[in-house]
Amino acid sequence: MSSSALASFGSRLLLKHQAKSSHRFLSTSASGFDKVGVIGLGLMGHGVCQVAAASGVHSSVVAFEPEQKFLDLGKDRIEKSIGKLVSKGKMSQEDADKTLGSIHFTTDMSDLKDTDFIVEAVIENMDLKRDLYTSLGATCDEKTIFASNTSSLSIGEMAQFSGRTDRFVGVHFFNPVQLMKLVEVIKTDETDQAVFDKAYAWVNDIGKVPVSCGDTPGFIVNRLLVPSLLQAMLMVDRNDASVKDIDISMQLGAGHPMGPLHLADYIGLDTALFITQGWVEKYPDEPAFVLPKCLKEKVDAGDLGRKTGKGFYHWDGDKRGDPVA
Ligand SMILES: NC(=O)c1ccc[n+]([C@@H]2O[C@H](COP(=O)([O-])OP(=O)(O)OC[C@H]3O[C@@H](n4cnc5c(N)ncnc54)[C@H](O)[C@@H]3O)[C@@H](O)[C@H]2O)c1
Repeated sequence: MSSSALASFGSRLLLKHQAKSSHRFLSTSASGFDKVGVIGLGLMGHGVCQVAAASGVHSSVVAFEPEQKFLDLGKDRIEKSIGKLVSKGKMSQEDADKTLGSIHFTTDMSDLKDTDFIVEAVIENMDLKRDLYTSLGATCDEKTIFASNTSSLSIGEMAQFSGRTDRFVGVHFFNPVQLMKLVEVIKTDETDQAVFDKAYAWVNDIGKVPVSCGDTPGFIVNRLLVPSLLQAMLMVDRNDASVKDIDISMQLGAGHPMGPLHLADYIGLDTALFITQGWVEKYPDEPAFVLPKCLKEKVDAGDLGRKTGKGFYHWDGDKRGDPVA
């Protein structure tokens, strides 16, 4: 389990407010980024690559995975996603061909050398990111700006490994990237303002909505959302209210599309625990980061929510059943 699904917490709440598709062809780039790179073509990276290519503002998008089989998987994902847009009439075949034609798929890191901007979306593991940024810093031209899509790691720490702390930002996309409009753009104390401004402009270039945030755990969305899930779990711990009543309350009283415990089950209680434990350890003085007893107990028992069929609720695939007694 990784913390990579962290942003999905926000995704589920926000999805219904998003535009249908963000593909479009523009002719100008406010950021000035001509050639961009995407590292890691998994759940997030393939979407970033697709959206960047579909914006039409780049001469080329270099899509890098270290192993051919993962590169092929990422390419397949992008082709399928674009194929769906075409079959639904949301993208013309001509734009689809242009989009795919502008992506250069590679397992050779040196192809990223002369890019203007690189978005990294590899698995959420600091050791792995440390090695990657060390190699990347040595490989890329001085001008290349690095951006991490991390959900929970420190942008400043990664910037140190890259050797270019002034040319390093966070760009936190939401899942699914093709549909979710928001991108949190993260500035560390050392990020050059002009670099940040370019990254911010790039988010607009590719048809997303940027917001600015400091290098703080959870950035904006997850910093607000995760503690609210934890508070709901603490209410369960204290027996303040039932699982069902907590969820109904937030749906009907706060207008949320689903309650916090339903959402936690949907995302995965192991993911919630992983993130929370990381924050509790790293920020012991932050009162919003607490570990509910029921969360730990459920994960220890293997009840991880929707994916295991049991969490705060019983689940049959994607269909939620009754609360667990
Ligand atoms: N999943 C989400 O909802 C979500 C949302 C926002 C941000 N993020 C962040 O995005 C990043 C990626 O998450 P994901 O869910 O897409 O993960 P994922 O596991 O789906 O994809 C990661 C990809 O990185 C590749 N990879 C591994 N090591 C690599 C290396 N050294 N160089 C290049 N590629 C490498 C893997 O082959 C894989 O394709 C994480 O930092 C995560 O925190 C995830």
